[in-house]
Amino acid sequence: MSKNLIMYYSRKGQNYFSGSIRSIAKGNTEYVAEFIRDAIGGDLFEIDTVRPYPADYMECTEVAKAELNSKERPELKSYIEDISGYDNIFVCGPCWWGTFPMAVFTQLEKLDWDGKRVFAVMTHEGSGLGSSERDLRNACAGATVGKGLSIPGGQASSSQKKVAEWARKAIE
Ligand SMILES: Cc1cc2nc3c(=O)[nH]c(=O)nc-3n(C[C@H](O)[C@H](O)[C@H](O)COP(=O)(O)O)c2cc1C
Repeated sequence: MSKNLIMYYSRKGQNYFSGSIRSIAKGNTEYVAEFIRDAIGGDLFEIDTVRPYPADYMECTEVAKAELNSKERPELKSYIEDISGYDNIFVCGPCWWGTFPMAVFTQLEKLDWDGKRVFAVMTHEGSGLGSSERDLRNACAGATVGKGLSIPGGQASSSQKKVAEWARKAIE
């Protein structure tokens, strides 16, 4: 049986849902990452930064934009050092300015991807997968990037069925 790793970044605090800003206790992407794990099994790993992002939504978008422009690699609270025991790796995160938060790349660039199967999973407010699949191809040299999944953030908590169907197909 193949072994699955589901890594995710997901931001709590203020978030934007179809035109209004709300405060949430659990990030959108976290729901989706857990649904993948529940459907196909595997280990969950949360990517989290040492320096927190501003709780304020607009402030956070400015910090994230600056990090993207300077290709920052924010320090993480903990790292996965070795993925040799996994076959499939799901890289899950919110769309931040068209791609994953820079913290996701901090983790991706530490790993040996040779021979792995990788999937982009993104929650968003309209950008879909953005450039995430192309960015995974660049960051995960030697891996095969399978067809990813995008879920509108406001639908994340009720996306279990859709996510489960996709995940089961993805690893066939
Ligand atoms: C810093 C920042 C940048 C964002 N940029 C985009 C974007 O470019 N395109 C988009 O569709 N949504 C964008 N969003 C919305 C998030 O992708 C969306 O709310 C996502 O579901 C949040 O997931 P999370 O709760 O797991 O962090 C952005 C949100 C933030 C906080």
